[in-house]
Parts: sequence; C-alpha cells; structure tokens
Amino acid sequence: METIQNYIQQHKDRFLNELLELLKIPSISADSAYKNDVLKTAEVVKKSLESAGCDSVEICKTDGNPIVYGEIIINPDLPTVLVYGHYDVQPADPLELWTSPPFEPVIKKTDLHPEGAIFARGACDDKGQMYMHVKALEFMAKTKQLPCNVKFMIEGEEEVGSVNLSKFVKANKEKLKNDVILISDTGMISNDVPSITTGLRGLSYVEIEVTGPNRDLHSGLYGGSIANPINVLTKMIASLHDENNHITIPGFYDKVENLSAEERAEMAKAPFSLEKYKKALQIEDVYGENGYSTNERNSIRPTLDVNGIWGGYIGEGAKTVIASKAFAKISMRLVPHQDWEEITELFTKHFESIAPKGVTVKVKPHHGGQGYVTPIDNIGYKAASKAYQETFGKMPIPQRSGGSIPIVALFEQELKSKTILMGFGLDSDAIHSPNEHFGLFNFYKGIETIPYFYKYFAELSK
Ligand code: BES
Ligand code: MN
Ligand code: MN
Repeated sequence: METIQNYIQQHKDRFLNELLELLKIPSISADSAYKNDVLKTAEVVKKSLESAGCDSVEICKTDGNPIVYGEIIINPDLPTVLVYGHYDVQPADPLELWTSPPFEPVIKKTDLHPEGAIFARGACDDKGQMYMHVKALEFMAKTKQLPCNVKFMIEGEEEVGSVNLSKFVKANKEKLKNDVILISDTGMISNDVPSITTGLRGLSYVEIEVTGPNRDLHSGLYGGSIANPINVLTKMIASLHDENNHITIPGFYDKVENLSAEERAEMAKAPFSLEKYKKALQIEDVYGENGYSTNERNSIRPTLDVNGIWGGYIGEGAKTVIASKAFAKISMRLVPHQDWEEITELFTKHFESIAPKGVTVKVKPHHGGQGYVTPIDNIGYKAASKAYQETFGKMPIPQRSGGSIPIVALFEQELKSKTILMGFGLDSDAIHSPNEHFGLFNFYKGIETIPYFYKYFAELSK
C-alpha cells in the first residue's frame, strides 16, 4: 500500500507550487480593495478540494466573504472529521520592512528553517497550514485510504472576527455535524519538540475616543487650563495596570481560572530558553505580571494591551496644538471562564468612570470571542498524540497558546464537538508581521502527520 512518505516524495514539488500559487493572491479580508482577490482565492480553494477528491464542493455566499465547503462521505457509519481553516490573510503593511514582496512567495533559509521556508503573507497563517489538510486528503482519497468521512469548511473572514461564519454555523448544524474538528492554525514549540495546542485565549477588542474642546486649540493660549485629550487618554491607559502589572479594572480577574501548582509545574517542563527569547526580540529584559513566568504570562494569564494610539499633530516639524480628540485601540486577551462580553462591559464602565469631567469618553466594542481548552483525555487528543509520535518519533507536549481563534468556542457551543489544534507553525514564523514564513519541513511534516490522525481517530472511535 502506498505510504504517505512515498506520496510526498513523488509529489512534493507540485504540492509546493500549488501553495505558492495560492499565496500569490492577496486575500486581505480587512481591506475591501481586495474583495476580488478574496473571491478569486475562494475559487482556487474550491478547485483544490475538488481535485483532492471531495464529492461535492460549494462556495457558500454570506453577507461578507464566502465560505468554501466541501465533503467526502464514504460511509455514514464511519466517524466524521470537520476540517476548519481560513484563506484570508492579514494586511501586509509595513511593506518596506519585507525583504521580498509579501505576495511574491520565495524560499529562503533561516536559522530555525535550515531546509528553507516560504516567505509570503499567509504562508503560515493560514494558507500553508490549511493546504496541508487539502494535500493530506488528496493522499487518503487517491490511494483509497480514507478511514473517516471528511468535511472541509474554509472561511475568508477569520482575521476580521468570523462574524458571518458564526451565522453560517448556527444555520447549518446538521450539515456540519461531525465527531471531531481538526484545525491547523496554531504553532508548536520547535521542529524537534512537537506540541499540540490545548488552549486558546479569548479576546475583547475595544476602540476609545476621548473628546475635549470642540476644536483643536493653540497649545500656548489654552495649554494648562483645559483637559488635553491626549494627556488624559494616556494617563487613563497607564492607570489600567498597577505596580505589579496587574490589571486594575474591578472584577477583571473574578472568573480567571487559577491553575494548580501541579499544572503550573507541568507547564514549566516545556523547553524554553529565556536568553534565546530575549535575543530573538533584541530586548534586555522581559516584562509582565509579577508572580508569573514568561510562558504563563502569554498563555494562562489575561492581558490588556494598547494596539494603536493616535491624535494631534504627527506631521513633519512642530505644530503647537492641543487636539480636540484622542484615540486608542485596546485588546484584552482572556482566559477560559472569562466571558468576553462581560469583560467588555467591565472595561467600558471602568474606563468611563475614571475620565475627568473635562472630557467625554466613548468606548466602542469591536469583535471578540471566548477562550477555549481542549481536554487531553479524549480520543481526538489521543489520536493526534499518536500521530505525532509516528512522524516525529516523540510524544508531543500539550501546550496552551496565547492566540485566539474565537470560532472554536462557538463550534463547541453549537456543534457540541471538541476541536483538536494540530498547529505546525513556529512563534518565530512572524505571522501578522513583515516577513511571515512557513518552514518547508513544517509544511511537509504536517501533510505527513495528518493522515495518521485520521487513522488513529477511526481506530479509537470503534
Ligand atoms: N491563527 C491565528 C491565531 C493563533 C496563532 C493562535 C498562533 C495560536 C497560535 C489567527 O489567525 C488570529 O490571528 N487570530 C486573531 C483573532 C481574530 C479575532 C482576529 C488573534 O489572535 O489576534
Ligand atoms: Mn489564523
Ligand atoms: Mn491570524
């Protein structure tokens, strides 16, 4: 019987070239100027699912970008795997920091990817990782080794909050019925330390507008006698953390899950070098909540970060002016049990309450979502763990991630199934940043590992 290893050897150049074609289309969901490219990408994904062996593939229209849905049902008695991924990508700016254009993929070697990595926006997040599933399906379908029914749902709005996908899921529960959900849109510790993501943080994202006087003012004539919206906004933001870097919003930590000493000790066993971490980011020291390690701070603890701040004069030279308005965008990463809508409300109430009388404050909530944890005692996790053992020769480490995929909690709520997060990217792959890349090793290792997940999931389901 044909092995996946042989199949990859025979087809690796084609697999790569197909992915490169997909990466050339700038499917940026945040910017409506790329609408046609988004639609074109959905078409390419549809064709790839058809040629991989899906029985039926459709492009499902939504109020936003379409969802590509495909399936291959071989036997209703077999378990069904639902694969989710996204074909949209983040904007590529700042363009001048890319060493090669973001939508002209090239292969370059890096320290962590000595075999080469594909440099392009979306290489890792998520076109490259999503495409591993298409190629794994191709292998299983073409060589008649498919042990499960498969459904694919690839969306085009993950990077802007999956609003239309949520509606689609709620309206199509029967169609999407499955025994396990499989996603590759996260990372692993390193190429020789495989890990499976067992947690995602939730998210609350808000935008703030602070208004002072009804017009921009001369900073000499009025300076000192009125509240300057930028001074006020920055002071208010600074007050959101105390001297221990705890967040000061009343009630913010009420529902935070506190891990036991055993769980924290288990987490601390994952290999991590603080020296390498600092060196890679060119920082003298790390910074964060007192009492927690770097890995805890960016995975099991909630955070509050300014993502953007603006107002006043930022052109060349100096203009003496007090701006009428100041703005900021703030993200709060949440941990399991914190409810994102409740946190958004707590934030809003607190932020409004600390504003001095001389300004008005508006808080506009953007998208958000709940966190998620995958239990490691279910057959989905076990099947994934066995798959990694087969292809990496090592037991993967369960690890919580700091990132968010809000739709995962909704899948559990609506479809009542668990999600297994088999991510093959590295944190250093620069997703959302200039020079995003995805290792060739990781791309092929993903394609190799996925069929074993299906095999073991089918076996363990019996
Ligand atoms: N794939 C990422 C999330 C991710 C990356 C999770 C690495 C864990 C490890 C996803 O595309 C993403 O960027 N999510 C957004 C949230 C979304 C609502 C815009 C995020 O985490 O900022
Ligand atoms: Mn992603
Ligand atoms: Mn992303």
